[in-house]
Amino acid sequence: MPLKAVCEAPGKVIISGEHFVVHGATALAAAIERKVRVEASWSDTLEIRSSATGGKEALAPAKKLVEYLYAARGTKPRLSMRITSTIAEGAGLGSSAATMVALAGAASALEGWGMDQAALAEAAATGEKVIHGNPSGIDTTTSATGGVILFRRGEEPRRIDLTSPLTLLVAFSGKKRSTGRLIAKVSEMKMTYPSLFESLCESATLVSELCARALKDGETATLGSLMTYNHAVLTRAGASTRGLDELVELCLASGCLGAKLTGAGGGGSVLAVPPKDPLEAQAVANKLGSAGYDAFFTTIPTSGARSWTE
Ligand code: MEV
Repeated sequence: MPLKAVCEAPGKVIISGEHFVVHGATALAAAIERKVRVEASWSDTLEIRSSATGGKEALAPAKKLVEYLYAARGTKPRLSMRITSTIAEGAGLGSSAATMVALAGAASALEGWGMDQAALAEAAATGEKVIHGNPSGIDTTTSATGGVILFRRGEEPRRIDLTSPLTLLVAFSGKKRSTGRLIAKVSEMKMTYPSLFESLCESATLVSELCARALKDGETATLGSLMTYNHAVLTRAGASTRGLDELVELCLASGCLGAKLTGAGGGGSVLAVPPKDPLEAQAVANKLGSAGYDAFFTTIPTSGARSWTE
């Protein structure tokens, strides 16, 4: 029996289709290099500790998830779990989903349950429901499987192979937000204008498919302009804020090929396609940094959840 198990699960960015994916549209998402790490070892009871900033918020759902996993196997958890993270919480980068995936992965590795990526994503989605109410499952699926995926509720994710890796720029607005509240806000539009909302879902699916093709073909200018279009639609749907719109404008004015809010919006982060020239790209990141944003590069594709025992 191993003494300790570790699981590392990545955060994510949504390239196209957030919110509409909750209502059946196809979205495009990618795992990022920032991740959550969970270390699990044996104990007399269930203990979960987190050194993530504001980590306490995630602990109640984390406990629920682990108890659920053990209850499904007719037993009680007796393990100590320690969560560390390099993903800012409330930044729209999938911190809570990655936490859920890493918890399930670490418990599975310690107990020898052999849960595969699909099983981890499904289990993690149970924990996410406690936090967000009606998540689509895109965050947990992207964290578990990694890479770049086209995701539609109830279907197998479709993996997108890139001809060459692509570096994207992420800028955190510094304003945390609640995904559940934003999902409810955008869903109001569906109640008020059902047929308009349906056509926006169809257009989100088309934009996601076009973004996937542009990514496959290395057409970064096309990808960027589709992402900027996506941001405009999300703004109309109520997911953006003045601060996010300004951040998108700053990215575009600084030479990015496209920019949009990523994830739930209402704060959180902006995802941009930086200029091709690395020096120009670094100049944009520096400018965002001087303006007070936490800006970093992330290269896609990157791997999904990985577990091991020690
Ligand atoms: C959050 O990262 C993405 C949303 O579409 C919610 C979801 O799909 O669960 C806003």
